[in-house]
Amino acid sequence: MNPTGEKDLAGTAARRNLETCAKPELWQDWFDEAECSIEDQWKDPIWPLIRRMDFSTVLEVGPGAGRNSERLKELAGTLHLVDFNEYALELCKRRFQDHAGPCVIRYHQNDGCSLPFIDDESVTFVYSWDSMVHFERTVVGSYMQEFARVLKPGGWGFVHHSNYGTISENSDIEQAPHLRSNMTSDLFRTFCEENGLLRTSFLVFAWGGVEGADCISIFQKPDPDRKFAAWRARMLHRLSWRFWLLTR
Ligand SMILES: C[S@@+](CC[C@H](N)C(=O)[O-])C[C@H]1O[C@@H](n2cnc3c(N)ncnc32)[C@H](O)[C@@H]1O
Repeated sequence: MNPTGEKDLAGTAARRNLETCAKPELWQDWFDEAECSIEDQWKDPIWPLIRRMDFSTVLEVGPGAGRNSERLKELAGTLHLVDFNEYALELCKRRFQDHAGPCVIRYHQNDGCSLPFIDDESVTFVYSWDSMVHFERTVVGSYMQEFARVLKPGGWGFVHHSNYGTISENSDIEQAPHLRSNMTSDLFRTFCEENGLLRTSFLVFAWGGVEGADCISIFQKPDPDRKFAAWRARMLHRLSWRFWLLTR
């Protein structure tokens, strides 16, 4: 960490990924196009998989123009929106300018890989949909360390990330379909293990006609003081995950 608390970006692959993701207005047109698909995506798979989470303090990574945040703010006590690009946060601020609460929305522009403004063990639920799919594997690794730090014991994460790394290891997302990164489902499990998180379930699925391009991973930070409660929550989650798979 440097004196401002932000991480140094040692890897050139990570640096290149952040340069690509910071290209001016890279996502602007996409934000408008994507708005109409969130209703269906929220119905399936998002809501059935997150509905039992504790929404007291939610951290959303890469909110873009806020199509997910729109829904999360109806559930959360506090909603932290963290984006690398200021223009995305400006769109969120404009979108929610008349939001009267009770959810408190906080906006944070970050360095693209760390969360120095979020207190240790203060978050009950980490959420990211259709953003971390673009993050190069070392960038995801950096966020995983941060998720382990900021999650409360017993807290959960729902992260949509790339699995395209099983097809190509190229770290340049501009060479991949739908700007998918070289991240993989297996690597996500490894990152969880390295950071003391438990990945309870995952789903590899097609995106934009590319088989196995994406993955949803769900994970929990164990609670050493409430081992039985955390175990029971994982069992309940696994049961509802299986039920969801059978009924979709
Ligand atoms: C494709 S948009 C998705 C936005 C939103 N999740 C949605 O579903 O509409 C990707 C978002 O991730 C943000 N982003 C890209 N790289 C990032 C990084 N390393 N850290 C945080 N945000 C990042 C972009 O600024 C953009 O807002």
